[in-house]
Amino acid sequence: MSFGKEVRMSRIFRGKNNMTVMLALDHGMALGPMRGIERPRELLNSVSGSVDSIMLNKGILVQCASPSSGAGIVLRISGAATIDGPDLTAERLTTTIEEALRLGVDAVATSIFVGTPNEHASIEACALLSDECDRFGMPLLAVTALGKDREKAFKSRYLALAVRVAAELGADIIKTYYCEDGFDKVVEAAVGIPVVIAGGPLMDSNSQVLEVAEKAIKIGARGGDMGRNVWQSEKPIAMLKSLRDIIHEGVTAQEALLRYWN
Ligand code: 5RP
Repeated sequence: MSFGKEVRMSRIFRGKNNMTVMLALDHGMALGPMRGIERPRELLNSVSGSVDSIMLNKGILVQCASPSSGAGIVLRISGAATIDGPDLTAERLTTTIEEALRLGVDAVATSIFVGTPNEHASIEACALLSDECDRFGMPLLAVTALGKDREKAFKSRYLALAVRVAAELGADIIKTYYCEDGFDKVVEAAVGIPVVIAGGPLMDSNSQVLEVAEKAIKIGARGGDMGRNVWQSEKPIAMLKSLRDIIHEGVTAQEALLRYWN
């Protein structure tokens, strides 16, 4: 990895164990002002100090984030499709590496939609972006996104395929989902590239979220890149702190849940 990429990666993966608590709040670009991210400025203010990194789009970064928050910044640079449009997976790149450099961010993120009619376009865009990221020393986070088929999210065979595709394209960080059965195969498919897990839609309980984080970390994930299960929880900051305890301190989900309520 180039020196520039390593510098930027070190702003995202932190602490003795080189892991990340990343807060995703990039959802508005496709889903609008969902519950929990109606006031991103307040949210970003309140989480500063509890996160290692944040993942968001340019407008919210510039308008609502503090340049001196100290959080690593992952700029999403794919989108241009909404929940109200014909196809949420029909993403395009929305800005450039030059713009990302100008904004001082630490990584850029794009989605690949493996197994959807848009897999070709999204994989090709990610591959070309990977070359450009190499040129500028900018880490690339590939989001292995799902189409409408949420069932796939829990199948390691599918997740491993998507993760391996991202690794083959030259991603530096791969975002995927945790699955109960065979998550070790998903991590293995990343061939050593750091894997971070999304949370997906709000889970049934806080303990479930923390258990997913604990299991994913034990199996080899290098952090969480969760959104809804943090900012839609009753206590977003407490949830982030509990995730942090699991990710950076190796506490159990049970202990993290106790800390959440206390
Ligand atoms: C979607 C994304 C989101 O950032 C991702 O889904 C993480 O958020 P959540 O934990 O709410 O799923 O990249 O493609």
